[in-house]
Order: sequence, then structure tokens, then C-alpha cells
Amino acid sequence: MSSSTFSLASKVKLYNGHMIPQIQLGLYMMSGKEVLASVPWALAAGYRGFDSAQMYHNEAEAGQAIRKWLESSETRRARTSRGRTSGIRRSSPVPGSTSYDAVRKSIKRSVKACGLGYIDLFLLHSPYGGPEARLTSWKAIEDAIDDGEVRSGGVSNYGIEELMASNPRIKPAVNQIEVHPFNTQTAIRETCAKHGILVEAYGPLARAMRMKDPTILELAKKYACTPAQLMVRWSLQHGHVPLPKSARKERLIDNVKVGGFEISDEDVQRMDGLDEHLVTDWDPTDAD
Ligand SMILES: NC(=O)c1ccc[n+]([C@@H]2O[C@H](COP(=O)([O-])OP(=O)(O)OC[C@H]3O[C@@H](n4cnc5c(N)ncnc54)[C@H](OP(=O)(O)O)[C@@H]3O)[C@@H](O)[C@H]2O)c1
Repeated sequence: MSSSTFSLASKVKLYNGHMIPQIQLGLYMMSGKEVLASVPWALAAGYRGFDSAQMYHNEAEAGQAIRKWLESSETRRARTSRGRTSGIRRSSPVPGSTSYDAVRKSIKRSVKACGLGYIDLFLLHSPYGGPEARLTSWKAIEDAIDDGEVRSGGVSNYGIEELMASNPRIKPAVNQIEVHPFNTQTAIRETCAKHGILVEAYGPLARAMRMKDPTILELAKKYACTPAQLMVRWSLQHGHVPLPKSARKERLIDNVKVGGFEISDEDVQRMDGLDEHLVTDWDPTDAD
């Protein structure tokens, strides 16, 4: 278990050497208007990573808010000597595995929509479509990396073994799956660890469905934190990249104040024991 102090400045290294922020704001179920408000609040609070998707219909607003922030005089001072931006990471998944051409087009659409020139991490959002679609879709990600549209590639809701067995030219850097104490996904996490693939944890707050769980409340009291902070910290101590979502200013700031306490190994295991395979969104294990 980690004894690290975590903050919005914490970063984690992907196998390909790229660093990504270890806590990122999820943008699912946010309207464009909410994104235009939330992303600037988050940037001001110190967030440097955002998770959007084509199917969230808010990539353009996310890009717009990030661009505006980058153009502000304060941020201009923070640019590196190479003129690169100061470390904001945007990740964006395409809707699913379809075909090589559809994925290439889809990536170009997202890059254009966000207006940021490239996307740091691009994920295939779903494993549906069958083995051939999955493997040719992955080739499209590899070529988009070669062409500079995308810095790193990854998948979401994948079991991973099939893709790794195909011996991909470029390995996925990330698998984004639902993980929280009520759905610990041990098997997929172990497979990812075996291949050096980072787990991004979606639904890290269990979609607020278990905020009143007695163990969560007991441990939140013990560590003098909120249930949301406890769950974010659990995710970080497992080495994940949690993507907690909130469209409310006070929550998106408060949820990630997780540097002031550390969950003991024993209590992490207690939280692991809460697993009930709670699926808050969809189940990746049922793809053909
Ligand atoms: N790849 C995929 O298939 C996939 C699927 C699902 C999600 N994701 C990504 O992962 C991110 C996070 O997942 P998620 O949005 O499903 O779930 P989540 O982050 O676990 O929970 C979000 C929910 O919790 C509420 N909430 C936040 N802070 C709270 C607090 N302190 N107290 C009470 N309620 C609180 C939010 O409402 P308010 O906004 O009103 O605060 C929202 O309803 C998404 O936004 C998305 O970026 C990816």
C-alpha cells in the first residue's frame, strides 16, 4: 500500500513515459453549460486532467474552457520554454470499437471538437463489436499516435487479454473501468498490472449510491474525512487514477482533498471487502 501524499498535483507515469495527473475530473452527465462552469472551477482548484467522451456531447465545451484558461495571462507565464502548455491532460474516448476508418475519423472529430491540437489520451470506449472490430480499432489508435493526433492510447471496459494476445505494435497505456470499494474488479486489475497497464477508475464514488454505507461512514469518521474523500483515497492507495465527477463547485474541490490522511492497510482491506459487484453504469465482462 502507498504511503504517498496525494494532491491534484500528483502524477503517475504511463509505461510509455508520459505523465498523467493522478486525479482527474469526470465530465459524464454534465451539460455543456455545466462543463463551462465546472472546468474553470476545477482548473482554478488545481485539476489538470479531464475525462470527456464523444457520447457526453461536451468535448467542445471542455476544450473551450481549457483553451480559455490556457490563454489567460496567468497561464501564459506557466508555459514551458518549448511553448507547450503547462500540463493539462485531456482524455477522450471514442464511442466504441467499430472499424479502422470509423475510429480514425472519430479521433479527428474529437481533436477538432476540443480545438486543442491533440488529445493526450484517447480510449476505445467499449469492447462491443466483436474481436475483429476491436483489433482493427486498436490499429487506428496506434496510427493516430504515430500521426501525433493522440499522445497515448488506451481502452475502456476491456478485458485486455484478447488485445494483448494479438501482440499490438503499441500497447494500451490505460484501461478505464468501473472500480470502487463496492466493485473492486480484482481480476481485470490483476491482468492490467501484469501488462503494465494503468487502471483509470470510473465511478470512483460509486455514483453516490453508497455514501451512507455503515463501514464507509465509520471509516470516514475515523479518518475525519467525507465518504467521498475516503473513496477517492482508497482508489489512489490502490494506484488507480480516479475520475470523480461533480458539477458542484464545493464538491469538486472538497472530494479531492485527500492529502491529510492515510487509510491503514487493514482498513483498505476492509473497504476491499465491501465488494458486491455493484455496477453503476455498464458491465464490460459481457461483450462478445
Ligand atoms: N468509460 C466509461 O464507460 C465510463 C462510464 C462511466 C463514467 N466514466 C467516467 O468516470 C467519471 C466518474 O464516474 P461517474 O460520474 O459515473 O460517477 P462518480 O464520480 O462515482 O459519481 C458521480 C455522482 O456522485 C455525485 N457526487 C459527487 N460528489 C458527491 C458528494 N461529495 N456527495 C454526494 N454526491 C456526490 C455527483 O453529483 P453532482 O454532480 O451533483 O455532485 C454524481 O451524481 C465520469 O464522469 C466519466 O468521466 C466513464
